[in-house]
Amino acid sequence: MSEQTLSNLMHEDRRFEPPAGLAADANVKEEAYARADSDREAFWASAAERLDWGQKWDQVLDWSNPPFAKWFVGGTINASVNCVDRHVDAGNGDKVALHWIGEPEDDTRDITYAQLKDEVSKAANALTGLGVQKGDRVAIYMPMIPEVVVAMLACARIGAPHTVVFGGFSADALASRITDCGAKVVITADGGYRRGAPSALKPAVDEAVTKLEDDELASKVLVVRRTGQDVDWDDDRDVWWHEAVDNASADHEPELHDAEHPLFVMYTSGSTGKPKGILHTTGGYLTGTSFTHWEVFDLKDDDVYWCTADVGWITGHSYMVYGPLANGATQVMFEGTPEKGRWWQIVQDYKVTLFYTAPTAIRTFMKQGREIPDAYDMSSLRLLGSVGEPINPEAYVWYREVIGGDRCPVVDTWWQTETGQIMISPLPGVTAGKPGSAMKALPGIAADVVDDDAQSVGNGNGGYLVLKEPWPAMLRTLWGDDERFKDTYWSRWKGLYFAGDGAKLDDDGDIWLLGRVDDVMNVSGHRLSTTEIESALVSHPKVAEAAVVGAADETTGQAVCAFVILRDSAGDGGEDIVEELRKHVAKEIGAIAKPRQIMVVAELPKTRSGKIMRRLLKDVAEDREVGDVTTLADSTVMDLIKSKSSGSS
Ligand code: PRX
Repeated sequence: MSEQTLSNLMHEDRRFEPPAGLAADANVKEEAYARADSDREAFWASAAERLDWGQKWDQVLDWSNPPFAKWFVGGTINASVNCVDRHVDAGNGDKVALHWIGEPEDDTRDITYAQLKDEVSKAANALTGLGVQKGDRVAIYMPMIPEVVVAMLACARIGAPHTVVFGGFSADALASRITDCGAKVVITADGGYRRGAPSALKPAVDEAVTKLEDDELASKVLVVRRTGQDVDWDDDRDVWWHEAVDNASADHEPELHDAEHPLFVMYTSGSTGKPKGILHTTGGYLTGTSFTHWEVFDLKDDDVYWCTADVGWITGHSYMVYGPLANGATQVMFEGTPEKGRWWQIVQDYKVTLFYTAPTAIRTFMKQGREIPDAYDMSSLRLLGSVGEPINPEAYVWYREVIGGDRCPVVDTWWQTETGQIMISPLPGVTAGKPGSAMKALPGIAADVVDDDAQSVGNGNGGYLVLKEPWPAMLRTLWGDDERFKDTYWSRWKGLYFAGDGAKLDDDGDIWLLGRVDDVMNVSGHRLSTTEIESALVSHPKVAEAAVVGAADETTGQAVCAFVILRDSAGDGGEDIVEELRKHVAKEIGAIAKPRQIMVVAELPKTRSGKIMRRLLKDVAEDREVGDVTTLADSTVMDLIKSKSSGSS
């Protein structure tokens, strides 16, 4: 975003006051900010008290060895008991937990909390039967079907940390995650439905297994039959879910785990090639996600909540599985992708009240035109959320007016895989929303915008977004790599967590997120690393060198643009080289990482010390006048690239 656009944005003077009814009856009111400021730990302790604990904690926060935090020290808790058993015990067993909607029309299932408890208990028994013990890791590679929720909660129940790998990732990506976290068992399905057709998953697991070097890894693969398509079968390794789980007992006595027991590892892209295994633990994570879900979405007993994220991302973990289920919410879970009208049909049919999605989806719907949503009755909606990337004011206002009937507040929620919970957001009953701004840190969260010397920039200025105090759902470390954890997040300024985002404070002190300042791209709200895609490209035998940039894209926020130099032996690579390389990236990482555009070039712009100047490549990709080239070793390189780009795909 240019300075000019930004300053125009920050003079946004539209304000949307909270609806009076919502404000009067809000779960969290203005006083919460002062209460949290006066005693942050007491504030989070009261949030933790919303959950069921075995042993209560002796200490709220142990920050004696920063940046390694321990929350609710000495407490014991079971996440799955909090997400299912306690609602059944409280007499809410008949309440619907999941209105599951499959992609094929009319393929639906309503699952109550009592049914979910039985399924989770059976799956926990089945996993134990397969030899999974407390502390063992389990990889989950599944479509959006209820069994994925059951699988996650069953792992949590027995204390086996899960690592969910998004179904769109490749066999290679799956194998590297299984290896990095040492997963003993994989849970998958024969396939899922995508855009009306079955799409296989099991073959990717079979291929991943062949790449593992240790026999202990993925020694059992539990397979849900979803599509009924043919699968290869290894009698020693593969087990059908419907045989192992359906025949298991629905009685399972849960063990209480330490508050700091690992709950899951979620891999995400960093600014270097290797994905980072973000570790979340139990008590603090569940406190942070359940409290903020109740606070930011103002959840009431009779709400129908729908978060459209895939469970393979952190949003699916925090705001589809753990937060909402710990709160006993009724929610919609949809297997499909956004097709014209289908989402709004679901809102109408299920009378959805709280809706949470990403700006990229909103921008796609804007392009399709308001006639499509206008054809549905969406009067049940009372609050809308946005996550994953900056929401531009036009998209915000369209969302509010067209989807929200001009009555629903929009909460623009900033957070990350690492933060686990929402950190910056309006409070729907308190804050007058400003289109484009995520507003303020939530009560109990300390955020600031600082300059290179870690000084607060003050209102009206831009800098780096930092977090100044620990929070319950914060990542505890990177799986198996404490040093990288310290280096990545805590080494830039002493005592401050560096999020990797640029931000500005407007004249009222409200926060505007400006996107990443590191080598991380945000494509349709998904995080991708430039270096990881560059590594994938240079692993192709025809590629000598590659540089990747995230270029602005109207719909997806950013798009992957690659510049490659081919090896001499590849000649000009042939006509299909671009498609060949795009496919190669999909194979190495997954279809989501496929470059939108690949330009074959003779040179890359480098400084005298050999560093690629991506800033200049971004200018080319965004079709702008190329910026200052004086630090280039050879300033004619850009002319060459520019002339090439005008004729390239
Ligand atoms: O750059 C920020 C952007 O997404 C990054 C985190 O990505 P990930 O870990 O995949 O989690 C996405 C879902 C929580 C952040 O560093 N981001 C997330 N939410 C917003 C955002 N940027 C602007 N506004 C947001 N509301």
